[in-house]
Amino acid sequence: MTSTPTSATSAPTAPSVPLRTQLLRRKPVERLVADAGTGAGGQLRRTLGVGHLTTISIGATLGTGIFVVLGEAVPVAGPAVVVSFVLAGVIALLSALSYAELAGMIPAAGSSYSYSYATLGELAAWVCGWCLILEYGVSVAAVAVGWGQYVNELLHATIGVTIPDAWSQPPGAGGYFNVPALVVVVIATLVLLRGVTESARVNTAMVVIKILALLLFCAIAFTAFRAGNLTPLFPLGLAGMSSGAATLFFSYIGFDAASTAGEEARDPQRDLPRAIMLSLGIVTLLYCLVALAAVGAMPWRRFEGTEAALARIVDQAGGGSLVVGLLSLGAVVAIASVVLTVLYGQIRILFAMARDGLVPPVFARVDQRTGVPRTNTLVVGLFVSLLAASIPLGELANATSIGTLFAFALVNVAVLVLRRTRPELPRAFRVPFAPVVPIAGALLCCYAMLSLGASTWVVFVGWMVLGLALYAGYGRRHSRLNAPAPHAVLPPQ
Ligand code: ALA
Repeated sequence: MTSTPTSATSAPTAPSVPLRTQLLRRKPVERLVADAGTGAGGQLRRTLGVGHLTTISIGATLGTGIFVVLGEAVPVAGPAVVVSFVLAGVIALLSALSYAELAGMIPAAGSSYSYSYATLGELAAWVCGWCLILEYGVSVAAVAVGWGQYVNELLHATIGVTIPDAWSQPPGAGGYFNVPALVVVVIATLVLLRGVTESARVNTAMVVIKILALLLFCAIAFTAFRAGNLTPLFPLGLAGMSSGAATLFFSYIGFDAASTAGEEARDPQRDLPRAIMLSLGIVTLLYCLVALAAVGAMPWRRFEGTEAALARIVDQAGGGSLVVGLLSLGAVVAIASVVLTVLYGQIRILFAMARDGLVPPVFARVDQRTGVPRTNTLVVGLFVSLLAASIPLGELANATSIGTLFAFALVNVAVLVLRRTRPELPRAFRVPFAPVVPIAGALLCCYAMLSLGASTWVVFVGWMVLGLALYAGYGRRHSRLNAPAPHAVLPPQ
């Protein structure tokens, strides 16, 4: 079905304000809230309750990190990987509190992009939105790459065949094209095209399956638990443990996904903060339990070079091929659900940016029949599937982490700014011990960014330069804040 543009994305006017004013002007919270749901040609639909929102965040979080990256972190941290999970969880928690406060106040699909627009101005919002493409668009590709490992495991356990490297690895990692990664993104795109309620239902079912798979893993692995495997707890020192935490931060990315559903939630003010905090709590508990079971069941040195580590552990613990098959099926479903929900988030963020005129209006066009931003979904699905099929996991995961950390840092700053500039606005959830907690959250994110390698920074800086060029060439000229609005544009502070 084709859609016609409405005033939500009407033609821009040329900027007539000084550059500095333009870069720093803010979109008022009231206008962000008033815009919610409106697209071109149709409206998003408010159908999601707290259960769906929580499973969207769990869906986006629980996947490659626990099923694949855990195996890479154990050789770095030793049995202290359990502590690494707690540390990475604390970093995530500080930012999650800020997300919970802002998502309840400004339930906009743009998530931290929109919070930055309300507090730090248009340039910061653009930079944040551009980083979110790393957090969502690029991470979904990274996750899809990890999917292939467990698909092979499942095929091997059930029918005794595996996809050859040539067709399950990208160029540079011994293959031509990662077909499983492409397939999972295409399937997720097709589900998303059906509508948000259908997608949320499919996701909820997948979340239940992945939690059950991890509990099954724990049940088997604990039967092989040897306390001796945990000593010494810190064989590679505190440095190993914190480096493990930096690697495992990836496994917490996604708790904020519910915030991108702000315009499709039935009661976003009440439910978004709950969903964000609940999902992070459930995920942290599961991670610590699984990590403890894993390092208790298999000596930490044996993790080196082991693919699909959880399946290996179950196998060695005598779980048998049925349990290995079930676990692999759980992982396949788990990672597919990350792909589905993170792709969803990316589409909603671009939707919000297009509505503000910073990216082409086609991304804000809503299909009237399904209530889905259809062209946006197709373009993002195509882009991500090609990326996933042709780039190795490690390269993608690091780029993802740096972009995410930057966006999280901005969210913490946004809480501080809004507490000062708009103290009167109702807040369904308040970060405790502000300003200490948001300041600590922002500093920890910056610290974690600095601990990432030089090559990641080169990618990040290159990405930012590209983003700024696009803003100068398109967004600045087409910003909807160039046009008269029902609520006055806030001047720079
Ligand atoms: N946290 C997500 C995962 O681990 C990105 O797959």
